[in-house]
This record gives sequence, structure tokens and C-alpha cells, in this order.
Amino acid sequence: MIKVEQISKSFKNTQILHDISFEIKKGDFIAVMGPSGSGKSTLLYSISGMDSLSSGKVLFEEINISEMKEEDLSGFRLNKMGFVFQNAQMLKNLSIFDNITLPGLVAKKESADDIRKRASGLMKRMEIEGIEERDIREVSGGQLQRASICRAMINNPEILFLDEPTGALNSGATDQVLSILEDLNREGMTIMTVTHDPRVAAKAKKVLYIRDGQIAACKEFSVGADRESELNEWLKGFQLTA
Ligand SMILES: Nc1ncnc2c1ncn2[C@@H]1O[C@H](COP(=O)(O)OP(=O)(O)O)[C@@H](O)[C@H]1O
Ligand SMILES: [Mg+2]
Repeated sequence: MIKVEQISKSFKNTQILHDISFEIKKGDFIAVMGPSGSGKSTLLYSISGMDSLSSGKVLFEEINISEMKEEDLSGFRLNKMGFVFQNAQMLKNLSIFDNITLPGLVAKKESADDIRKRASGLMKRMEIEGIEERDIREVSGGQLQRASICRAMINNPEILFLDEPTGALNSGATDQVLSILEDLNREGMTIMTVTHDPRVAAKAKKVLYIRDGQIAACKEFSVGADRESELNEWLKGFQLTA
């Protein structure tokens, strides 16, 4: 679905990403791990076209999005990609419900009525019905993060990008987000998430370890493995050499 071909990214004179290539297949669930400052967020933003590349290209279903004009690319992103950030990033002057429907109303793929129905359906499925009219400061961190997954899903994207989606959540709220991601992926949603949390990464099919702006290693889990212990063993190798 997405081919990342030799992308590099510099800010001013500092090169952050070095010649990264990999592929995201439809139905993949990829976790990106690595030390703070290693370039994980930059990688996510570069793939999705939120950041421009210094070199290389990203093909989204054979379309070279690295060459698209910003106005075309933002429409493309709105329709095909969903985003979830560590701190939800919802608008303060809108209710939860209006935050969720907003990208739908902007994209206009469906009628306003259908978008509202879709939003209600998503909220029900994420088990946050009842908080529609609340202000974003009147809900828990876990509810807010589930609402931001609803918002990311409102245009029925082909891929969901998440940057540390559970970084600000307690363990119970993390579990709820994890089970949502697992279900979405089981139903076919392609997911790429940056995370520090081995519990999150253990739900993925594949883990990329980024160090100094390069893919230091890539792990696929053995069938039937105890993924969390397999992953922790694997990560130990990096902590020794980090
Ligand atoms: N907009 C920017 N301008 C300049 N430097 C940046 C910018 N964004 C990120 N960086 C730098 O790029 C490096 C990687 O950042 P980031 O991708 O956020 O790392 P990670 O998500 O792995 O913690 C850091 O050294 C950071 O300071
Ligand atoms: Mg980051």
C-alpha cells in the first residue's frame, strides 16, 4: 500500500532521517520503537507528507505523494489517512462530537447527516457514548484519546497513523485503546504507531526499531509466541548497545 523509498530528512543542517526504506502492506500493524530523539515522529510525519522530505519518495498505492502540491496532498491526507497524537489535539471551543465530525464535514465525502450517524456509531463502538456535548476539558484522558480515534476514523481512512497514543494514559485507559487498535486491525485497518510501550508494540505484527534516524532492526513475531516476552528480550539487545 505504501512504499517508502530511501527517504532522508534534515532540519537546517542536521540530518534526522537517513535513507530509510520499507513497505507498509494493507492490513499491516507496524509499531515504531526507539530512543527519544531518534526520529520516530519525524518518520511518521515524513511518510504521511506532513513534513516534506529532503530526498527520497513515498508511494501511496503507486501515487508519488512526495511530488504532490500541498493543497492536493492535504485533501489526499484528509481522505486516506487518520492521525492520532499523544495529546489528542482537539479544538477547545468545540464539543467532543463536533471535534469528531469536523474532518468529515470538511472532506464532504458523505452528507452531514451520514457523517453525524457515522460519528455516533464510532463513539458507541469506542464506548464513549454520552460525552458528545462535553467540552474536551470535561472528559478523562482515556475518553479524549478514544474520541481522537473516532475523529481519525471519521473519513474511513485507509491507514491510521498514531504517535505515542497511550503515552499520556494510565494502564486501564491504555488497555482500552489497545483493544480498539487490535479490533480495528483485525477488521482490516492498516495501522502504524510510534510507541515506547512494549505492551502496545506487542499487539503489532511487525516492530521497527529506529536509532539515529535509521532502521536498526525489524522484528516479526513467531507464531504463537508470548509476544511481550519475545519483544522484551529483543529490546534488551538494543539497551545494551544503545
Ligand atoms: N521541526 C523541527 N525542527 C528542527 N529539529 C527538529 C524538528 N522536529 C524534530 N527535530 C529534531 O529531530 C530529532 C528527532 O525528533 P523526533 O522525530 O521528534 O524524535 P522521536 O519522535 O524519536 O523522539 C530530534 O533531535 C529533534 O530535536
Ligand atoms: Mg516523538
